[in-house]
Amino acid sequence: MPSRDHTPGQHAPAESGRKMRSRAWFDNPDNADMTALYLERYLNYGFTREELQSGKPIIGIAQTGSDLSPCNRHHLVLAERLRDGIRTAGGIPIEFPVHPIQETGKRPTASLDRNLAYLGLVEVLYGYPLDGVILTIGCDKTTPACLMAAATVNLPAIAFSVGPMLNGWYKGERTGSGTIVWKARQLLAAGEIDYQGFIELVASSAPSTGYCNTMGTATTMNSLAEALGMQLPGSAAIPAPYRERQQMAYETGKRIVEMVREDLKPSDILTKKAFRNAIRVNSAIGGSTNAPIHINAIAKHMGVEVTVQEWQDLGRDIPLLVNLQPAGEYLGEDYHHAGGVPAVVKQLMNEGLIDEDALTVNGKTIGENCRNATIEDDKVIKTFKNPMVDKAGFVVLKGNIFDSAIMKISVISEEFRQRYLSDPKDKDAFVGTAIVFDGPEDYHHRIDDPAMKIDAQSVLVIRGVGPVGYPGAAEVVNMRPPAYLIKQGISSLPCIGDGRQSGTSGSPSILNAAPEAAVGGGLAILKTGDKIRVDLNTGEVNMLVEPAELQARRDALKKAGGYPFPEHQTPWQEIQRGIVDQLNEGMVLKPAVKYQRIAQS
Ligand code: FES
Ligand code: MG
Repeated sequence: MPSRDHTPGQHAPAESGRKMRSRAWFDNPDNADMTALYLERYLNYGFTREELQSGKPIIGIAQTGSDLSPCNRHHLVLAERLRDGIRTAGGIPIEFPVHPIQETGKRPTASLDRNLAYLGLVEVLYGYPLDGVILTIGCDKTTPACLMAAATVNLPAIAFSVGPMLNGWYKGERTGSGTIVWKARQLLAAGEIDYQGFIELVASSAPSTGYCNTMGTATTMNSLAEALGMQLPGSAAIPAPYRERQQMAYETGKRIVEMVREDLKPSDILTKKAFRNAIRVNSAIGGSTNAPIHINAIAKHMGVEVTVQEWQDLGRDIPLLVNLQPAGEYLGEDYHHAGGVPAVVKQLMNEGLIDEDALTVNGKTIGENCRNATIEDDKVIKTFKNPMVDKAGFVVLKGNIFDSAIMKISVISEEFRQRYLSDPKDKDAFVGTAIVFDGPEDYHHRIDDPAMKIDAQSVLVIRGVGPVGYPGAAEVVNMRPPAYLIKQGISSLPCIGDGRQSGTSGSPSILNAAPEAAVGGGLAILKTGDKIRVDLNTGEVNMLVEPAELQARRDALKKAGGYPFPEHQTPWQEIQRGIVDQLNEGMVLKPAVKYQRIAQS
């Protein structure tokens, strides 16, 4: 070794006395051979022995940004400030890539890769000399993938959002990413804009670096990562290009080093209380229907029991406080200026709806963090007493079509209720006629065909799009009506499916139906023309088909070898299909759940 290297331990600061996990690699006198081997390659990077053997915490920066992941790409820039913070606090940063997940770019669907990125990150956190990790989150699936891995490994971990994009504008109006696509499609279908206008309108919604500026799955999951206590307070909503984002990076870098010294781990933070808080905050922000899938997955890997039913029990009656598109008018910058997550949490605290003693990454409780939070713009964040919508959470539905599905009832309009009313005295029971599609290709092929006879009483059903049928579960349940109905002023029909729905869509859909058709769920035997009754009072959704006929259809399905799904296109599709759970179970990899807290000493 070069003589200018310091003797191990010579500069060991007055650390907390805790032996760093990374010393098993870099400073292990009992295994000098391996220590030398480990050291020489990381010295080759340019580190000195003083850095690696002094007992300083080695902090991983799990980098989700790349040229393939534009939503998170700004993390490549922000990582410099994360490093500065880590160094300032006496830690050593080591940045490494996470398997890219780009919501809009990955075929067949980005959610196929959530579990793959999770697996990869678990291996890295377990197998390399890291004492703690910063999880760079942002685009939809990057947040759950990172938090799931942190839960499994249970190393000290802190999440850091890339931040939302700036607000989008078009002709003086806010255009929200994702949400504008649904509107632009309708305008295109109605002939009001052409292809060129369509592209321009959609592109206007994404004016800067960052994650989607609407209350889609990204804003939802970043907000919930803060509500869970895994981000510094006030961090989630700071827009990506703002200076505060850079400053928050620095603070996050400093804080993870302290967390390692304090041995503050995900298991201390991701408790049942934290999950209860996240479920309630999700209703108050108008969070995405993808949230139950991801939050339940994080809980499963943490070993905390959270069921879909709890989303109804805890979340249904919470009012909508955040006026963001698609449910409202505003966008990410406005959300930040209005006070972001702490302002929302404070409103719930006032009503006793937050478990205030849930610990967060800064070492304080969520109650301490949010006690003095205020609403800075009550057009954007409403008070609990004067909300956007009274009951903004999900209802959990069941019946002979599925055992479990969810619906956001707050998006059902009065006009819509009138159209489907089956009983004038009962405004929560609807009957419609099923129009069944087998996957998105079938839907696109046939939706505008007049022979389908789709009318204002139709219910659009899509199947074969769950975790197994369309590997990863496609975001296709929100289906637009045929163009001829849109021209008549019918902008939405009820939709049912075993897939997911984009968080940026405001359609009244019954989604995440489990079990899916591909594993023998009731959707597999539904036929076009069947009547479907939805009763939001009892939470039941049934196809009105005689029991004998249902049995005959089940027998026929069995004889045919079950509901078919397309061939695997990649090795991962085949592997995941063999071991993935259903959407109500968080779509986790079943064999992975038993590995818990694997980095604990
Ligand atoms: Fe990445 Fe919306 S597509 S955040
Ligand atoms: Mg999405």
